[in-house]
Amino acid sequence: MYFDNAATTPLNKGAMEAIQASFELFGNPSSVHGEGRKAQKILRDARTAVAKVLGAKPHEILFTSGGSESNNMAIRQGVKRNSHLGRHMITSQIEHPSVLNVMKHLEKKGFEITYLPVDELGNISVEDFENAYREDTILVSLMYVNNEIGAILPIQEIGERLRNTQTLFHVDAVQAFLHEKVVPHELGIDYLSISGHKVNGPKGVGVLFVNDETPLEPLILGGEQEEKRRAGTENILGIAGLKGAIENHDLEREVRHIKRLERGVLDALTQSTIRFSMNGDPEKKSPHVLNLHFPKVNNNLLLMRLDLKQVMISTGSACTAGNIEPSHVLEAMFGKGEERIKESVRISFGIQNTMDEVEALMSILIPIVQEIQNKHEGEKHGI
Ligand SMILES: Cc1ncc(COP(=O)(O)O)c(C=O)c1O
Repeated sequence: MYFDNAATTPLNKGAMEAIQASFELFGNPSSVHGEGRKAQKILRDARTAVAKVLGAKPHEILFTSGGSESNNMAIRQGVKRNSHLGRHMITSQIEHPSVLNVMKHLEKKGFEITYLPVDELGNISVEDFENAYREDTILVSLMYVNNEIGAILPIQEIGERLRNTQTLFHVDAVQAFLHEKVVPHELGIDYLSISGHKVNGPKGVGVLFVNDETPLEPLILGGEQEEKRRAGTENILGIAGLKGAIENHDLEREVRHIKRLERGVLDALTQSTIRFSMNGDPEKKSPHVLNLHFPKVNNNLLLMRLDLKQVMISTGSACTAGNIEPSHVLEAMFGKGEERIKESVRISFGIQNTMDEVEALMSILIPIVQEIQNKHEGEKHGI
């Protein structure tokens, strides 16, 4: 039972078929002969398919190696584009490391970064943004949906505020794409990152939407691929798979399905006698990410006990050589060193998950949590 879909998702049927159909296509899309043209067609069709979902022009779709590269390119090259206007940037404390570590790197180079805080529900306030915004703010980078708690950030309001300014607006939509309706032109977004493996496509492929009005210089220099915006022979199999994956999705049906799965978990927990609460704002979150606090239940222990029963969930935070680091997102919400951080886990749903799986998950998770919480109660009373 795999409930770690915010980490990665299995390939869907569309992706598998598209990859299989391209196995024998070995042409280099930059070649002008027949084999090259076959590869070029894959690229062209995939660009059109991604553009269609985003309500963008095919020309605005740039293929990359994934979300991390897209985030790096948007921020680093956006800063280059606008560095004559100032040295201040705004992001949030709960971004993915592929944004936060770029910001830290730029801080060392003399840029000034405001990291917007979150409240206990994981929400960012537009007022805080207004207060942080300055005349010399050259770039704002915010995620659409947070990967650990599912929080939906106020992208629409901030995009509106930034419209008709020279400030560039980058949005990491890796966890939002095909979960929420994302139309960058409607939201005043200049750059938007997407990752293939979070939407049942292959790993190592992603997209950066680059608004026609705010072009970027390439991050990777070399040949003239991607209209001179990203050098390197394109990952044709990955790009074909991404197109197949996207076309296999049906956003509205999937949102309904995933909401039902999330409701199933919450109902089962509410009907049980275990103690739990949600980390995040139920009114402002995407349903595929559900972060839960089980008081007195060490998350490492719970993960291991579940893994022994072939149930896979996560803490949502980075894992280095088997050691789980405290979540920077939960730290931003509750403060460093809070017990709650070590007692929280993330269940993230995918379209392939079923209600039967949710029932099975709950029939395994609830007794384990119950046992640990009872043991703790017993110890507290000297039993
Ligand atoms: C919000 C967010 N941004 C960026 C990334 C990085 O994407 P990729 O693994 O394709 O580099 C992830 C993946 O965990 C993510 O969740």
